[in-house]
Amino acid sequence: MFPTTRMRRLRASPRVRDLVAGTRLSPKDLVYPIFVDENLKESKPVAAMPGIHRQSLRTVAKEAAAAADVGVPAVILFGIPKAKDEAGSAAYAKDGVVPAAIRRIKEATDLAVIADLCLCEYTSHGHCGLLRGSRIDNDRTVDVYGKIAVSQALAGADMVAPSGMMDGQVAAIRKALDDADFEELPVLAYSSKYASAFYGPFREAAESVPKFGDRRSHQMDPRTATQALKEARLDLQEGADIVMVKPALPYLDVLALLRRELDAPIAAFQVSGEYAALKAAGAQGWFDEEAAVRETLTAIKRAGADFILTYFAKEYAARV
Ligand code: PBG
Ligand code: ZN
Repeated sequence: MFPTTRMRRLRASPRVRDLVAGTRLSPKDLVYPIFVDENLKESKPVAAMPGIHRQSLRTVAKEAAAAADVGVPAVILFGIPKAKDEAGSAAYAKDGVVPAAIRRIKEATDLAVIADLCLCEYTSHGHCGLLRGSRIDNDRTVDVYGKIAVSQALAGADMVAPSGMMDGQVAAIRKALDDADFEELPVLAYSSKYASAFYGPFREAAESVPKFGDRRSHQMDPRTATQALKEARLDLQEGADIVMVKPALPYLDVLALLRRELDAPIAAFQVSGEYAALKAAGAQGWFDEEAAVRETLTAIKRAGADFILTYFAKEYAARV
């Protein structure tokens, strides 16, 4: 109690503040998401995400190398194919957009390349799986996810990251990978992925807006935290190596809960809408954008994330 206890003693100098800070944030904690569009020759800006472009197969390695140059260890790829169909078959084409991008990035850099694994960018209807009527057929969909995983592994992906929130998807992918002799390839499971308004800019960038309905039959209801823990536990039982919480800042309680309960690495995805909101306020001069970004990333780590997927990765790493 005061005056014996004075909290301000540890805050008096920057050196001492550093020593007792507890949370460290380094470029090595960050993963840079990249959109790669098979239809483009040059890169093209994403309107709602200032500073972010869709890359072409020609430009993608250069963008990845720019992240590597500032010390970012990994990228995650989202593909936009030339042609979409009901079944999303371009998602598992051996020479599809993501496999082609993986090969180019692996040739040009020593980055770890993570492949996002879903069907919504590849289906003509924009849903994350195969439809039966207007519903997603869970079990047929996870079989396709297995095929996508193998095509990404064959191209040299260092990790696959299923984001479709189908039941049993991790088990199906793990089995498909093992059967194809990729038993050492880790699965980063988007286990606790909420149905969020914060994905808006992404869906524009990745052309993955569902043509009807929404994703609430598979993504989690923002009002539940217990389901997030159960989803993560199930994914670990199915063989996931890393679990993820997404979005990040609105779900810090979920991150802290998983950190307390689980003995697995945990990732967090600071999503497109989080990026857009910070950029928009920064551009207006309504706050110091750089400081606000650092504060959000620090908060996400402090809450329990081992690493963070963020569109700020390249920019942040270049500053430190
Ligand atoms: C695809 C996918 C989405 C995101 C990552 N993978 C969008 C969605 O579920 O609609 C969101 C990423 C972001 O907003 O930055 N399943
Ligand atoms: Zn999807």
